[in-house]
Amino acid sequence: MNVLTPAVVEELFQARFAAMPDVVASAPGRVNLIGEHTDYNDGFVLPAAINYHTWVAAGARDDRELHIIAHDFTDQTVSFHLDAEMQRDAAMPWSNYVRGVVQQLRKKDFQLRGGNIFITGNVPAGAGLSSSASLEMALIRALTELSGEAVEPKAAALMGQAAENQFVGCNCGIMDQLISACGQADSALLIDCRDLGTRAVSIPQDWEILIVHSGVKRGLVESEYNLRREQCEAAARYFNQRSLRDVPLEHLLAAEAALEPLLFKRARHVLTENARTLTAADALMNGDMKTLSRVMAESHASMRDDFNITVPAIDTLVDMLNTAGQGLAGARMTGGGFGGCVVAVAPQSLIPTLMATVENHYQQETGCEPTLILAKASSGAFAGI
Ligand code: GLA
Repeated sequence: MNVLTPAVVEELFQARFAAMPDVVASAPGRVNLIGEHTDYNDGFVLPAAINYHTWVAAGARDDRELHIIAHDFTDQTVSFHLDAEMQRDAAMPWSNYVRGVVQQLRKKDFQLRGGNIFITGNVPAGAGLSSSASLEMALIRALTELSGEAVEPKAAALMGQAAENQFVGCNCGIMDQLISACGQADSALLIDCRDLGTRAVSIPQDWEILIVHSGVKRGLVESEYNLRREQCEAAARYFNQRSLRDVPLEHLLAAEAALEPLLFKRARHVLTENARTLTAADALMNGDMKTLSRVMAESHASMRDDFNITVPAIDTLVDMLNTAGQGLAGARMTGGGFGGCVVAVAPQSLIPTLMATVENHYQQETGCEPTLILAKASSGAFAGI
């Protein structure tokens, strides 16, 4: 991993803009422990911010332009006027996050200054660890601070989500932006996505979070993701409810024969996942690994069989970790699905066994190359404000 500190980022900025930045902001990626595809159904999620960040350095300009350099995309550069009408840029998709965020800040009447902007980071892209949300949160923080404006973390999260929904074209929920803004060190956050209420759940000191990238690049994410959301909304409409949160599991089960089978499966995943997420939060708080491990395994099976968002290599990886963990570790796919990462939670003493299992068997069985990341639950971009 690149080691990035404010001093390193300042130096990189200075080398390009021949001046020191006025602001250096950073925001973390996230790993979701459980509660997948529940956020846009007004449900529960249990993510943790991780110690991998996107950094945004900003220096004021005298005009009303933004000049932006994306270090991790070969220093690609984009410039636009702050008051310009925003158009999507197909050639440089990373810049759409900047445009979308500026558009939202403008809508909310933030008075932005022009600036030179430098972006870098070490959140693996396309891995399901929310590099986009971390970019949005770091940008909002940098652009507002540069302009002498203050923004609440939850307001920042909502603007990031709106940028994705209205400009980038992904109908994502609120989880990624909210945890990137509000994460707490050494804790996961139980988020009620209906009212954005959060409860920090501390992770037992001798437990570790192991993330394994399956080596399967996420594909079809946007179209399949948006389709899942539509299916959930259609299922809620069947029950005349605004969201699946308002449908009791008994009502769903009683309607099995009448409801279209695919919608029934999608809804069953969401309703059972909400219940598992609440159970997991209690298990984490109580250091009850037996229960956590069970609900994580059930969550994975539900994503595989009812929500159909896993891929065979990831199923193999989760099975492998569960076998090695013998009920003393939890494992499941994390994030939107169709590739990306698996998350495991385990006592420190078991981590070497889990890592060795993946290193010795995964590639041989699937042909995919894994990347292992030991992550620490970290604080969010706006923590402390
Ligand atoms: C993506 C979205 C989130 C959430 C997850 C699935 O990360 O951005 O809002 O829906 O997928 O849980």
